[in-house]
Amino acid sequence: MSTDAHVIVNLDVPGPVISRHLYGHFAEHLGRGIYGGFWVGEDSPLPHSDGLRLDVIEALKALQVPNLRWPGGCFADEYHWRDGIGPRDERPRVVNSHWGDIVETNHFGTHEFMALCELLGADAYVNGNLGSGTVQEMSEWVEYLTRADDSPMARLRRENGRDEPWHVPFWGLGNEAWGCGGNMTPEHYAQEARRYATFCREHSGNRLTRVAAGAADDDLRWTRALMESLSCLGCQKDPTNVFQAISFHYYTHAGEGIQTSPARGFSDDEFHRTMRGALDIDRIIAAHTAVMDAYDPKGAVALVCDEWGTWWRAEEGTNPGFLEQQNTLRDALVASIHFDAFHRHAARLRMANIAQTLNVLQAMLHTSDDGGLVLTPTYHVFEMNKGHQDATSLPLHVLASPTVSVDGDEFPAISISASTTGAAALVSLSNLSADAALPVRVELRGRAARIGRARILTGDSADSTNTVDDPARVAPVPFDAGIESGALVATLPPHSFATIELDLG
Ligand code: AHR
Repeated sequence: MSTDAHVIVNLDVPGPVISRHLYGHFAEHLGRGIYGGFWVGEDSPLPHSDGLRLDVIEALKALQVPNLRWPGGCFADEYHWRDGIGPRDERPRVVNSHWGDIVETNHFGTHEFMALCELLGADAYVNGNLGSGTVQEMSEWVEYLTRADDSPMARLRRENGRDEPWHVPFWGLGNEAWGCGGNMTPEHYAQEARRYATFCREHSGNRLTRVAAGAADDDLRWTRALMESLSCLGCQKDPTNVFQAISFHYYTHAGEGIQTSPARGFSDDEFHRTMRGALDIDRIIAAHTAVMDAYDPKGAVALVCDEWGTWWRAEEGTNPGFLEQQNTLRDALVASIHFDAFHRHAARLRMANIAQTLNVLQAMLHTSDDGGLVLTPTYHVFEMNKGHQDATSLPLHVLASPTVSVDGDEFPAISISASTTGAAALVSLSNLSADAALPVRVELRGRAARIGRARILTGDSADSTNTVDDPARVAPVPFDAGIESGALVATLPPHSFATIELDLG
């Protein structure tokens, strides 16, 4: 790479607000995500609050987790919520056939999940069972959670120890209906989503965003069929207000498919293929947005990416059904690329959920039963970027950038986004090259700016990671960035991510 990256940011031209819900999380009954992750049980020697592991909660609070999706994933479409209420020792044991074919004790259920959300300060995103549950079952779960008076479900909740209803703003209508959620066609699912959504009522002032389960990747047939069920192509009618959002899922890999290549020990080409795969999120969001714009030009219906992240081969010696994988600087850069795209598309994309929070796939935290707790490189991207939550995105233009080549494709080595909250701005910068430093010049137009705090996340190699024995190998450190003639100037080392906070005049 020979030239510098040259970017223009207009500090006085506001873009859409970046919903904090783009920084959402996902915790499924899968492997050690819930059991042995969040839930250690009331008899655990580890510090806990009614069975919920406290050091995990403290670490996550630093991320300002805005919402938590639960109980799946594929598990959601075989979960029957009544199994998970009442005295724990009386709850039925069932089989978790999707994930490891193990016995599910149901010790973590509705009350435990809502207690977790309260401890985290996160909004609940409950994913209902459309695949194998009934309309009545889903309808009654909403009532159980959110109704204040003495309705049958509100009474049942009280009998189980909770007087006040909970606030539940997000409701999923099944999951991956094209696959584990029932192998449906888009048209069939669209009808089912309308039917189930109708009976998810708004009780006692609780407003629900009902999320229809949509596409894998860029399978636009799903977005089109779901929008077609709410509106008409090119007409100016407001969409029917039966569900309020449509989701899609996108997983990143190194080019050979999910679950194929290892999380560590990759070549520079594999690293660059992974960066290329992550960058594709921009095209995919734009494609779903274009379909939605055609049916809903005013933007009433939200797009939601409620599963995203890397999916590597399970770690040697672990249950392959538990989806445990190491997390490196490569994963951190996959996250930073996604957030840059999320910020650009914040007008339509209003929620996203990393898959998953603990011990599963691209996790924030890795825990062990003996009390081990490791913050992954991805954790630090969420923490360094948290200033973008609910900020106003700033449009920017990449005028020039060195490029990276892989398999005959070229992409810019820089990924960047910026936002403002009035007197301050936050610029996030990534160098996607495995082997070359990236000098950057970001022209800051429209307002005077001074450097506040600047931090960088990098490591000896792109597969640097954190472990119990070496927990801070990849952690943010102060970064040398300056202002010269109204431009932010800095040199990013290979495979690095930086955040620069600006004080604005
Ligand atoms: O996140 C793991 C699984 O990936 C989810 O359960 C499913 O929705 C997706 O296929």
